[in-house]
Amino acid sequence: MASIVAVTRLALTQFRNYDGLRLDTDGRPVVLTGPNGAGKTNLLEALSFLAPGRGLRRASLAEVTRRPADASPDERGGWAVSARLATPKAGVPVTLGTGLERDEGSGTARRVVRIDGRPAKSQTALGAWLAVIWLTPQMDRLFIEGPGERRRFLDRLVFALQPEHARQLSEFESVLRERGRLLKEERDGGRPADPVWLDALEEKLAANGVAIAAARRDLVARLAATVGEVADAPFPTPLVAIAGSMEEELAGAPALAAEESYRQRLKSGRRRDAAAGMTLDGPHRSDLMVSHAGKRRPAADCSTGEQKALLIALTLAHARLLAAERGSAPILLLDEIAAHLDRTRREALFDAVIALNAQAWLTGTDAAWFEALRDRAQHFSVQDGRIEGKL
Ligand SMILES: Nc1ncnc2c1ncn2[C@@H]1O[C@H](COP(=O)(O)OP(=O)(O)O)[C@@H](O)[C@H]1O
Ligand SMILES: [Mg+2]
Repeated sequence: MASIVAVTRLALTQFRNYDGLRLDTDGRPVVLTGPNGAGKTNLLEALSFLAPGRGLRRASLAEVTRRPADASPDERGGWAVSARLATPKAGVPVTLGTGLERDEGSGTARRVVRIDGRPAKSQTALGAWLAVIWLTPQMDRLFIEGPGERRRFLDRLVFALQPEHARQLSEFESVLRERGRLLKEERDGGRPADPVWLDALEEKLAANGVAIAAARRDLVARLAATVGEVADAPFPTPLVAIAGSMEEELAGAPALAAEESYRQRLKSGRRRDAAAGMTLDGPHRSDLMVSHAGKRRPAADCSTGEQKALLIALTLAHARLLAAERGSAPILLLDEIAAHLDRTRREALFDAVIALNAQAWLTGTDAAWFEALRDRAQHFSVQDGRIEGKL
């Protein structure tokens, strides 16, 4: 069985409604119960910042800082999250820290990452120690909203396994913006776009684009294999695929050919993209397609409850894949999941979490929902930005 990576001590400073929090935990799942607005989701959000990216609310960094009743976001100071991890790596605990630090001199603020107190070059460094994945009530609409959220969901699945993917994506996006800016300037009667510069940008887009599409395809293939191995009854089996020009091209062509063909499409599409005001073709427009295997039906056409069950099954499969590939299960953040499940499914979810040997953090307003976990988990009561006690 994969060894466990777990948070054993969590500290929050000026984080949303937490002034200062110290929480000692062991490797078992953590159950947080308390009334609406107590700070349960905030605590999960804090943990989600231990992975690269913007956390589970995709908040701006300044928004997170604990607000005094009347201060505006620019007047607020920084925040910090620190977690000591028991980890099989090197056999000694490691402390991961991240937060917003404000430089008093210049007044600028930036996200910092520290590993055992030493500044890391980038957020990507966090991914080497820990994978964090989550399921929140906001994701209930994933299958019925536009492709953007699903693409982000897919990319998060990828970079939990391959932290490098995050860098590929952000480079791709910044080069895409630069190309768009040049084309727009020319279209609006400004300086004609320098064709040599456009060539260089498109070459870069093609290289990053192929890497992004290939990483997504790889993840989806592995996920499909994991889903096939273990059916998470009573949860439905999700089938996953990607709709996207580059991903589809990679199914039949070697990477170099796909790269060259995308480069040519970009070049010949300049006028069209200028008119549209955006690059119409590329991995930034791909979509994740999920369907219900048993019902042979796209997730969007399933009931709300079935959609939720599909998401849970996908998350469990992803967690198992991470456990197999990384050697330890990810930290799982399951916000308000128990509330939507009947008893059988709730208990099946708990059993799956225990079988994964994952430190899952589960929230809910009612402690009774977690009764079946009893001493297989540690239970805390959250009240008004404080942990009021161990239940
Ligand atoms: N930056 C912030 N500073 C202080 N309080 C905040 C901040 N952001 C959110 N909150 C407060 O946190 C509370 C919500 O916490 P949350 O974790 O979502 O509750 P729940 O326990 O229902 O999940 C709300 O009362 C909200 O006003
Ligand atoms: Mg909440």
